[in-house]
Amino acid sequence: MRIAEFELERYFARWEFAVEHLLCASDVQGYPMAELLALADDETRALWDGLQLGYTESTGHPLLRREIAGLYEAISPDDVLVFAGAEEAIFCLVSVMLGPGDHAIVTWPAYQSLYEVARAAGADVTLHELHEADGWALDVERLRAAIRPETRLVVVNAPHNPTGMLPTHAEWRALTELCAEAGVHLLADEDYRFLEFDTADRLTAGADALERGVSVGVLSKSFALAGLRIGWLASRDGELLARAAAFKDYTTICSSAPAEILGIVALRARETVLARTHAIVGANLRLLDRFFAERSDAFSWVRPRAGSVAFPRLTIQGVTIDAFAADLAKTEGVLLLPGSRFGYPGDHFRIGFGRTDLPVALERLEAVVDRRFR
Ligand SMILES: Cc1ncc(COP(=O)(O)O)c(C=O)c1O
Repeated sequence: MRIAEFELERYFARWEFAVEHLLCASDVQGYPMAELLALADDETRALWDGLQLGYTESTGHPLLRREIAGLYEAISPDDVLVFAGAEEAIFCLVSVMLGPGDHAIVTWPAYQSLYEVARAAGADVTLHELHEADGWALDVERLRAAIRPETRLVVVNAPHNPTGMLPTHAEWRALTELCAEAGVHLLADEDYRFLEFDTADRLTAGADALERGVSVGVLSKSFALAGLRIGWLASRDGELLARAAAFKDYTTICSSAPAEILGIVALRARETVLARTHAIVGANLRLLDRFFAERSDAFSWVRPRAGSVAFPRLTIQGVTIDAFAADLAKTEGVLLLPGSRFGYPGDHFRIGFGRTDLPVALERLEAVVDRRFR
């Protein structure tokens, strides 16, 4: 299999552990292990203390699948398949779904695996481009026009990385109805679900919305547990899940035993875990609102509706975001992620607001902008 390099991950491989402040991370400040274990109930504490480090059930720990199913309306534990992160879930699902002659439509800019795995599998991919001028909104009619007889899959990531876009309920209904009518599967990458700034905006999960809906979820973002590497697929299409499960025999076979138990702990204590995430993200977003309001001569800012990332644009004449970000990383130890890493033009950059060092990182960014460009 030949697959193009993952531009964003290559960038992080170069910089993530070489800078002091990641002002572009998409995850939320990792939950401290001791604090997480303190949330365990009697059953999960006993599972943790008595854990034997053998192979685990390939489909996922039964209690973990049950907790994950509880995040949905129409999903039972048997409709859940656990993976090593959302990344593995996407890789396995798309690999079994698509091949030469198939067509997929993928919202873009996008986390690269959402379209690159499809291309590597030999499928033809149409990128459904989102635009800043539209507030990054989905255009369901344009998407409808892109559907062909050989279209097998529509891929939407919402809440969206990198823009923070979240469709309205009406847009989402139109999209899910379109997929149902056309008989195509919907891959809904919902890794940032539960990070809606207004809970009334939370969408019906893809797996709940239609029989051919497949939800991708993960503990890395809203649940602040990226180090566990626990993700999943949820779908009522049992035949498709079975094929993805068989493909997993060639990737990880099963999940890490300690990670599964910690995942059960986190999901059972989800109100506490999510409250911490919302406190971090909410405080950081208020700082970003002020920062961008005061520097509207240097940046354009579409406020995200959900998630832990946004995709502003540098508007300083004669300065590219790539040069600006490289300078910022070298001189201030603060990392931004240029839009070029998404292949997206126009001096955008991803800013992440899930980390607790954001106030310091933002001060350094502020200092550079004010010193050099004002
Ligand atoms: C939209 C999206 N999908 C999938 C992933 C992969 O998640 P994980 O690294 O937790 O497997 C990410 C990570 O940034 C993401 O933003």
